[in-house]
Amino acid sequence: MNFQLSEEQQMLVDMARQFAAQQVAPGAEHRDQTGTFPSDLIAPLAEQGFLGMLVPEADGGSDMGYVNYALALAEIAQACASTAVTMAVNNLTASAVATFASAELRAEVLPDLCSGAGGQVGAFALSEPHCGSDAAALRTKAERDGDDYIINGAKQWITNGSYASWVLVMARTGEGTRGISAFLVPGDAAGLIVGPEERKMGLKGSNTVPLTLENVRVNQRYRVGDEGIGFRIAMDALDGGRIGIGSQALGIGRAALVEAARYMEERKAFGQPLNRHQALQFMIADIGTDLEATRLLMLKAASLRDQGEPMTQAASMCKVYASEACCRAVDSALQIHGGYGYVQDYAIERLYRDARVTRIYEGTSEIQRVVISRNVLKGS
Ligand code: CAA
Repeated sequence: MNFQLSEEQQMLVDMARQFAAQQVAPGAEHRDQTGTFPSDLIAPLAEQGFLGMLVPEADGGSDMGYVNYALALAEIAQACASTAVTMAVNNLTASAVATFASAELRAEVLPDLCSGAGGQVGAFALSEPHCGSDAAALRTKAERDGDDYIINGAKQWITNGSYASWVLVMARTGEGTRGISAFLVPGDAAGLIVGPEERKMGLKGSNTVPLTLENVRVNQRYRVGDEGIGFRIAMDALDGGRIGIGSQALGIGRAALVEAARYMEERKAFGQPLNRHQALQFMIADIGTDLEATRLLMLKAASLRDQGEPMTQAASMCKVYASEACCRAVDSALQIHGGYGYVQDYAIERLYRDARVTRIYEGTSEIQRVVISRNVLKGS
């Protein structure tokens, strides 16, 4: 067993780190303070190949696989968590299209998603105002009308919704989990109404909106896969997406560690720098251990995905551990800053707010435990 990254993987990490430091980190505070979407970063992210990392080259992607995706995304997240989730949801959407859509549809949609055409990205629309965790309770309906479907319903918490070239919409074409189908709706489709931006606690640079679909007409060729497999598509996409949120959490946690270490070096108490105080050194030890465990769970889930092995349980373990470890990390790092951690002059205040949602979106910690316990009990 070898825990080292390969030379290529290390090169990618170095490249992503440099890109993140030079292009992503400088605007992170501004994006947070002003709620500005990272429009200026969409083309540069595409140039690095970071928008189509899970899409074959033949379909316009960079086809780097999940391990590389997770490693690169953690670097972006360390610089700016808002930019990371923008990138993550685009990759999630693109990978679902690459896996399940017809060749004709892949050829139409994926070049847009991988290139960030027009500064736009992909969005994934599963949750609805009345259901998030219980995804199968969705009510959005797609009714057949000749060669078309007419879609009506409401979607909630849609990341990238205002800037979407394409929205992957899960809608009901029948009863139960086998009565859900997936459709690609163009962002400018008539009847697709973008609601007001949510006033979130953190990730203020990312875009989160409700979407209403009022008699949105899409040709049947925009259905992704067969009728009735939409729930499976969504669950499979989320298995991959949960690795992405694990990576995002790792990046935020690492940023918190860097901020804490810097503050501990600068600040003195009782005649010595904070980093000489054992109570605080122990906090750093716990953060470091948590982040390393996160990294290993992330790499395991990503590597299983790359090998085409079952990885639902590994993805949920990665996501629940990473998000909770990240929240512990930002909490300890803020505590180390004392009162200064509670004001906006220090980056840890932003990191603390950005971290919290990692325990909620792409499946709450409780849903990850449902998935894990089902798998553990099945396997025992
Ligand atoms: N991969 C493929 N298929 C899967 C699957 C997986 N990981 N998990 C379940 N399925 C299939 C099952 O095999 C089953 O198929 P059949 O009907 O053919 O047998 C079907 O899906 C139904 O499965 P379940 O009975 O397990 O379904 P359930 O209703 O009990 O739900 C759940 C399971 C895990 C709780 C699921 O509802 C879930 O993950 N909920 C959380 C939803 C979520 O994560 N939402 C996030 C929104 S997106 C977001 O946040 C993105 C963003 O913008 C940042």
